[in-house]
Amino acid sequence: MNQNTEKKREADGNEKRRGEISFADSVIFLNHPLLKHKISILRNRRTGTNEFRTIVGEIAMLMGYEALRDLPLENIEVETPVETCLTPVISGRKMAVVPILRAGLGMVEGIPTLVPSAKVGHIGMYRDEITHEPHEYYCKLPASIDERMILVTDPMLATGGSAVDAVRLIKQKGGKQIKFLSIIAAPEGVRKFTEQHPDVPLYVGQLDRCLNENAYICPGLGDAGDRIFGTR
Ligand code: PRP
Ligand code: URA
Repeated sequence: MNQNTEKKREADGNEKRRGEISFADSVIFLNHPLLKHKISILRNRRTGTNEFRTIVGEIAMLMGYEALRDLPLENIEVETPVETCLTPVISGRKMAVVPILRAGLGMVEGIPTLVPSAKVGHIGMYRDEITHEPHEYYCKLPASIDERMILVTDPMLATGGSAVDAVRLIKQKGGKQIKFLSIIAAPEGVRKFTEQHPDVPLYVGQLDRCLNENAYICPGLGDAGDRIFGTR
């Protein structure tokens, strides 16, 4: 088997790998052909910034659709052209989207498309290039964060350090109902996140093989922030 064939097999091995390793029940692997197709476009190094950004937003919307399956409903009375009926609408639950800067910003617009009343908070984190440890540099969350359903967005869950710290910060500020959306995750990051925050459902678009020596996800898509904002 030449190296390319081997790499290709590994990239395709998501299902099998998931079968071999067991993960906590709080992880939800989103196994949808549309997501797989769009993630493959993101992986391609030739995909340009504009298309990359658009597709990250589309993926966020699809993931948000799944993550919001349990939104509570209440019946309201509506007059149709035919008769009056009771029909369900989303009940008054407040929502917040909290992207982890920078790359998580690319996923923000997809969510208010689904829930226009959602407020947006921001958490600034960067990974030290040598130690790969996360550093917080900004945090601003919407008011009444304790009453909101919170979707935290970040396309990449690598070591899991940034995600773990961001959720810890949100909890410290009073956040209670938190879900995390990650487009591509490494097994190492999934394990760390679920150990530290077993109460926070983790939605993953695609589980990749491993981390490399620079703590980049393999095969991954490279640096998500740089690809979304065209900074490289
Ligand atoms: C990336 C990514 C995550 C983090 C994941 O951000 O968007 O926040 O790395 O890595 P981890 O799981 O090992 O913590 P980065 O620090 O590169 O900052 P950026 O979004 O500003 O590019
Ligand atoms: N951050 C990224 O943007 N990509 C990775 O593969 C790992 C961390």
